[in-house]
Amino acid sequence: MTSTEKSSRLPQHIAIIMDGNGRWARARMLPRYVGHREGVKAVKAIVEACRNKGIRALTLFAFSSENWRRPRDEVGLLMDLFIRTLKKEIEALHRNAIRVRFIGDRDAFPEGLRELMTEAEEKTRANTAMDLVIAANYGGKWDITRALQVIARRVAAGEIKPDDITPDMIGGEIALEDLPEPDLFIRTGGEQRISNFLLWQLAYTELYFTDVLWPAFNEHALDEALQSFASRQRRFGRTGDQVEQLKGA
Ligand code: IPE
Ligand code: IPE
Ligand code: MG
Repeated sequence: MTSTEKSSRLPQHIAIIMDGNGRWARARMLPRYVGHREGVKAVKAIVEACRNKGIRALTLFAFSSENWRRPRDEVGLLMDLFIRTLKKEIEALHRNAIRVRFIGDRDAFPEGLRELMTEAEEKTRANTAMDLVIAANYGGKWDITRALQVIARRVAAGEIKPDDITPDMIGGEIALEDLPEPDLFIRTGGEQRISNFLLWQLAYTELYFTDVLWPAFNEHALDEALQSFASRQRRFGRTGDQVEQLKGA
């Protein structure tokens, strides 16, 4: 395999639902927060691995708009861990030329955390090694709704007509609009569902589900996902023969 063929089989953008922290802890008779704490270690390892492999963008689901339904203590511990991790890791991310951003509704977060998020984004804005996107208080339905509100305002102002609305226009207002669409979606923890993660953006993403619980997800497990991705034929509606011909052209 030539190097161009190899790199074209590497996803440009990976999106991950990091699930299974609680079950990882329970299996060890430990409190759930220990699972979350170990989960942060897995985040570090996977960010580093993706950067070293030349992945262009990595989007991680850290906290869903539905996770507020968890017991108050767990939500509080997750917020603390989020704040502590950001404070601790931002320098190293910056040193590694990683550009960090957050997607999701920030209004619900404590002010200190919101400030940290902005600070991290501003500090790393010009970095080019990899985009790291953290989805926090994110929901796919929220994302689409917000995009439609922006467009509806343009209609109300008379700038455009309802019939002018196109999928590209909606895609231009939605989160991650400036990044390649995720090529590979990974969900750890054994569940096979999207849980209101990126809904619009995953339209043609390759889906990969693994039983490995997030704190145990390491570079080896990532390589397995990448191998599965490399073996798939992405047809985007065409026939397999057409895809082969296009490759030869
Ligand atoms: C994912 O692990 C982390 C978050 C949702 C914040 P879980 O906490 O959902 O772990 P399980 O699914 O209970 O094992
Ligand atoms: C999805 O995991 C959200 C994150 C990993 C942040 P959940 O554990 O919250 O998903 P459900 O509720 O089992 O679908
Ligand atoms: Mg879960």
